[in-house]
Amino acid sequence: MFNLESPDQNHVRSLFDLLVIGLVVAILTAIHYTNYHYEMNYHILLQFAYYLPVIYAAMRFGLAGGILSGLVITLLILPFMTHFHAMDLSAIYTQWVEIGLINVIGWLTGFLTQQERRAKRKYQLALTVQKELVEKLKREGQERERLEEEIRQTERLTALGHMSAGLAHEIRNPLGIMKVSIQLLAQEKVHDEVVTEYCRVLLEECERLNRLVSEFLTFARPKEPVRSPIALGKLLDEGVTLIQPALGQRHIELKQARNQVDEKKVEVDADQIKQVILNILLNAIDAQGEDGVILLEGIQQVGFVGFAVSDEGPGILLNAMPYIYDPFFTTKEKGTGLGLSVVHRILDQHGGKIITANRHERGIRVEILLPLS
Ligand SMILES: Nc1ncnc2c1ncn2[C@@H]1O[C@H](COP(=O)(O)OP(=O)(O)OP(=O)(O)O)[C@@H](O)[C@H]1O
Ligand SMILES: [Mg+2]
Repeated sequence: MFNLESPDQNHVRSLFDLLVIGLVVAILTAIHYTNYHYEMNYHILLQFAYYLPVIYAAMRFGLAGGILSGLVITLLILPFMTHFHAMDLSAIYTQWVEIGLINVIGWLTGFLTQQERRAKRKYQLALTVQKELVEKLKREGQERERLEEEIRQTERLTALGHMSAGLAHEIRNPLGIMKVSIQLLAQEKVHDEVVTEYCRVLLEECERLNRLVSEFLTFARPKEPVRSPIALGKLLDEGVTLIQPALGQRHIELKQARNQVDEKKVEVDADQIKQVILNILLNAIDAQGEDGVILLEGIQQVGFVGFAVSDEGPGILLNAMPYIYDPFFTTKEKGTGLGLSVVHRILDQHGGKIITANRHERGIRVEILLPLS
């Protein structure tokens, strides 16, 4: 985890180092033996050179490297010491002390290197753990923000639901009274053509107002979904059929790449999910304007299946992005701004999710995910 080299590279490097150490020891030993006739001091000095391969072996291979290299050098030098007749007693002692020192230095360096490596590994481990912790905290922070935003959204929708339900009720009552009064007036003045005509228009308008209020009420006071298993492809087909005329009128091409999800079953309220599909596709058509391509793809995530719609429209301004799911937020002249808030609410009730993001090129991509049944 901490070594940037691959295990193979590491292996080759170790072998190479071993070879170099062996070679240096071999050369030093060869000099000793081939210059047998030299003075003793010369050999004692030469022996100093053995420190180099021992220290390197200990630093490279730890305690084992230090002990082994010291041992090998001792074994190699032993015949020389016992057979070198020119040595006096003090020279022999000096040699032994030096051999001893070579070994002690090997062990010590090996031991210290090992300790240092252990400390380094611990430090690196602590660093990784710390990094992971920071990442985790960051992720949790983002998740909390998302949840808080969802709670705020739900609260706004609930408040809107209560308010509009009350308001609609208050409008309907006087409407009912107006309707009955107009009908009575029409009966009373049945021979007066002008009054009859006005009454007909008034009744028509009352009817329209009543319908509008009822429709709004279904938006604002959501019904509990009535779920049944259905293939996602079937729902998408129905949504696509409904928008075909609008696509044709504006010369927009709808490209589809959804084979992988068509047969996947979801347990949903088919009418509500069709409403979701329609809202997303209609938004894409509005954004697209004329010509170009809208892409409808099938998408999958662990435990989820769904679809993504990408358009080539103007995209969404970053400062508008947080508000697009709010009821009545619209940038369109004739929009109600209820489309995405209804989509969001329906997905909430189904345990699904919606992800909207500007595309790199142009336009936006909306992903809708539903739990797999
Ligand atoms: N595909 C899109 N491209 C660009 N902006 C979009 C897109 N879809 C939604 N928006 C933005 O989000 C806003 C809210 O969308 P929403 O569907 O809730 O309402 P609307 O489309 O304006 O009105 P309605 O759906 O009632 O006709 C839109 O007014 C628009 O600014
Ligand atoms: Mg819309």
